[in-house]
Amino acid sequence: MSKIVVANWKMNPGTLAEAKKLAALSLRTKPKGVKLVLCPPTLFFMSLSANSRNKNYQLGVQNIFHETSGAYTGEISAKMASVAGAQFAICGHSERRRLGETDIDVSKKVLAALKEKIIPILCIGEAERDTHGAYLDFLKGQIRNSLSSVSKNLVKKIIIAYEPVWAIGKEAKDALNADTLHQTTILIRKILVDRFGTVGREVKIIYGGSVAPENAREIVQGGEVDGLLVGHQSLNSVSFTKILREVAKA
Ligand code: PGA
Repeated sequence: MSKIVVANWKMNPGTLAEAKKLAALSLRTKPKGVKLVLCPPTLFFMSLSANSRNKNYQLGVQNIFHETSGAYTGEISAKMASVAGAQFAICGHSERRRLGETDIDVSKKVLAALKEKIIPILCIGEAERDTHGAYLDFLKGQIRNSLSSVSKNLVKKIIIAYEPVWAIGKEAKDALNADTLHQTTILIRKILVDRFGTVGREVKIIYGGSVAPENAREIVQGGEVDGLLVGHQSLNSVSFTKILREVAKA
């Protein structure tokens, strides 16, 4: 089954011209067997969406709002994202949770996305890994709360992006090692199966946090994940091309 690589550009690059160049480069070098999802800033979305038709990358938005329309200054609905060509939506990224987004907000976003046939990429992850296992309860709570209104029928459409917050970003020391990731994916799978039954096994789990060319293949293989969510390294076309190639070999 093909692995998925989600490029989260966050609030980058600075211009549309750079965004187009980045998308074109990622696309030109994308190996077979890897599904590529680009998540550009919303302002660049329409231009890249026009370019993505008939090309082999898909587009996702970095955030959506749960309401369909109304007096919500600055927000974008799932319907708008869908009309603009979004097939994926990142929901509950830790950088948004840090700005105040709660599990309840995230659960509404997940539902809004599903209603528009957009695949939610639900981000979960602990802020720190303690030795007493409190982080396990934290992950359980995040998953259960963020998926509280999702039915068994729809849950298999969701992608869970496990991103330990301490591993995210240029300043982070390193990614989670593959063995520990594997143990965590087993736990996430168990939480899903406990909540949704056997269909929980069909939910895709990807990893994000300090993914780089040097660790991409090991993370996918050893962590037994369905793909990666790549932040800062997705803005460097040389590194990102290497990551895509490493994932294709995994
Ligand atoms: P990073 O970010 O790859 O820069 O660690 C991942 C993310 O925030 O999704």
